[in-house]
Amino acid sequence: MKKLSLVVLISGSGSNLQAIIDAIQSGELNAEIRLVISNRADAGGLQRAEKAGIETRVIDHKHYPDRESFDRAMIAEIDPLQPDLVILAGFMRILSPAFIEHFEHRLLNIHPSLLPRYKGLNTHQQAIDNSDAIHGASVHFVNVELDSGPLVIQAEVPVLPGDDAKTLAARVLEQEHRIYPLAIKLYGEGKLHFDNNTLFYEDQPLVRPLRWKDGQLITPEHV
Ligand code: GAR
Repeated sequence: MKKLSLVVLISGSGSNLQAIIDAIQSGELNAEIRLVISNRADAGGLQRAEKAGIETRVIDHKHYPDRESFDRAMIAEIDPLQPDLVILAGFMRILSPAFIEHFEHRLLNIHPSLLPRYKGLNTHQQAIDNSDAIHGASVHFVNVELDSGPLVIQAEVPVLPGDDAKTLAARVLEQEHRIYPLAIKLYGEGKLHFDNNTLFYEDQPLVRPLRWKDGQLITPEHV
């Protein structure tokens, strides 16, 4: 099967980027990261990329007059590489509709909640404040509505007594590191595809997201 070509966008520590790098290096994921772009020069993920021998670029949003011109600068870096997927891995900028439409059906995001619950920021604190028993993470394709595109896979974690946003975030991140490489792998294996605007897993519309539970992929035929 063809090696999947990826561009990864980050803003921060890049632990999800690291999980993808590790999955590639272990042979679990048949992919190549062609470029890592950060909108912040101090993003820790840049060092992770450099250590893995991956090309990096800093495109600082503060140097652009508006969102659209910043996004055009990113498109200009990404397009010549013709990636199969553009991966948002802790990229903390809202993208313009023009960017999202340009990469329609090839733009993946990971979000630290069980979407559609808790779109936006401070998801862990919200789960605690609402006394949720279960929290988690979601991988989804990006559409023009914030954190609302077709869901691919989710993993749940318990919210434990005494949790604060930090302990809960750490528990969720562990699951993020499992489901993001897995979602990319499933795409690379041709198991996920769009027909019109409907996401399919193999030959079935993915009405409910796949789930990662107890170290196992739960697919529609198991549900
Ligand atoms: C992750 O928890 C990711 O889900 C979240 O930022 C963190 C990045 O961590 N993304 C968002 O909140 C996007 N709205 P990382 O830099 O260590 O991968």
